[in-house]
Amino acid sequence: MSENKQQWGSRLGVILAVAGSAVGLGNFLRFPGQAAANGGGAFMIPYFTALLLLGIPLGWAEWAMGRYGGRKGFHSAPAILGVMGKGKIARYLGVLGVLIPLGVYFYYVLIESWCLGYALKYLTGGIGIADGQPISDQIASSSAHFATYTGSKGDGSVFDLSGGLMSTLLVAFVLTVIANVWLLFRGLSGGIETFCKWAMPAMAVFALIVLVRVLTLPADATNPDQNVVNGLAYMWNPQWDKLGDPGAWMAAAGQIFFSLSVGFGVIINYASYMRKKDDVVLSGLTASATNEYFEVAMGGLITLTAAFVFLGLSLTTLPGGTFGLGFQTLPVVFAHMPLGNAIGAIWFFMLFLAAITSSLSMLQPTLAFIEEATGMKRRAAVALVVGISLIGNAYVMWFSKDLTVLGTIDDWVGTFFIVVLALVQCIVFGWVFGIDRGIEEAHHGAQMRIPKVFQFIIKYVSPAFLLWMLFNFVRDVLPKWIENLGANPTARNAVFFILLVILFLVVMTAIGEKRWRAQGRDVDGQLPAQD
Ligand code: ALA
Repeated sequence: MSENKQQWGSRLGVILAVAGSAVGLGNFLRFPGQAAANGGGAFMIPYFTALLLLGIPLGWAEWAMGRYGGRKGFHSAPAILGVMGKGKIARYLGVLGVLIPLGVYFYYVLIESWCLGYALKYLTGGIGIADGQPISDQIASSSAHFATYTGSKGDGSVFDLSGGLMSTLLVAFVLTVIANVWLLFRGLSGGIETFCKWAMPAMAVFALIVLVRVLTLPADATNPDQNVVNGLAYMWNPQWDKLGDPGAWMAAAGQIFFSLSVGFGVIINYASYMRKKDDVVLSGLTASATNEYFEVAMGGLITLTAAFVFLGLSLTTLPGGTFGLGFQTLPVVFAHMPLGNAIGAIWFFMLFLAAITSSLSMLQPTLAFIEEATGMKRRAAVALVVGISLIGNAYVMWFSKDLTVLGTIDDWVGTFFIVVLALVQCIVFGWVFGIDRGIEEAHHGAQMRIPKVFQFIIKYVSPAFLLWMLFNFVRDVLPKWIENLGANPTARNAVFFILLVILFLVVMTAIGEKRWRAQGRDVDGQLPAQD
């Protein structure tokens, strides 16, 4: 059995922890950007299709596999996929289930610290955008602040303390890391679960305050067309021509994975701390529904609507990509709003809460993996995980110019490998473990049954969808990324860094396998799980 035994305290606790992992920056920043760029309301068709054909069924598969692995005393993706997938291939592909949460954590926690830093700035007077300036000047100062703050203007600039501004970022970063490590160290029930139990409702209240403020914004006096209703139309009116674009379907499926934390290696780890009689079917559905509420009803109504009312269609030409809207555009919006600084502080603190409940879920799988691969005591394992994650954070923080390292890790780890891991899990659950056995396993202790059609979906439709995504990736996306690696040494080094992490995880898996075999454990899943 695993040496450092942990368990969830309650059913509500595990649901809130999984929902906390799911609801994050993806919901409030990534979703509105993706939706607007890929057809507005029409994006919701591929989006909900991907939710039904990938997100919910694969989520159930992860919950069921995690709980099954937990009953065999395993908590990490390599060990659990080795058991479910009956051997080495699945075990070593399971390394992706540690790489993804760890790699995403390297940059995610930085963005999390930007949220905290911005919240602190708003609490103490805002980020210095002068009222009454032309909007173009305000956007320029907001972008300049973002570039200085995040270090995107030059490598190493984040550590230049001469300007005063940077020290806010470093303070925010140190506070963010301390919060993550402390909650991780306190353990599953005493740390993550307890924190999520108050952070999730608090997040809902803060998001609601910002939403009410945005939906009651008066129209721009000089441009009456810039009103809330037209802002909602900008986000939601369908552009049907985008529906036939494979890019929109890929973006929708990618958003579902990122947002639900499915294909991440997180749910499989969280579910491994459940007991056989604990319900995974309804719990999985509840966590997904909570995520969708925050994504569609909050993320989908706040960001672009607010930006549209103040900036109109000009917001479509603003710089900054996925995160630009939240960090560069909204500060201009807050500068125009009555109570703008208070709303700014609430918005960024809400983003920080959303992010920390997600980042915690990214460290726990690595901790569980190190513990069970090496047999280390919890304290030593936490120290090792913190050391590794700090190296990753420092790397992303130092090579901050144009946020190239951040973007490269996000592309390869946070986008591409997620699709690969999702496919591996789908095949392991539906084909190797067997769909009938898998569904029967999921039904233990369940208050509702998985509708029969999902057996067909998990076995045939989800893998076909994922293979189609991989095919598109390999044909259209990877050649561009690889070409970019040739031209951009910083991006190339980031890929080497990812390969180094993979090598480390592969070696740890080999060490773990040797230990588990020496302990006489059912590493290749030859025996049924004990109750
Ligand atoms: N699921 C997390 C998010 O949406 C990673 O941010």
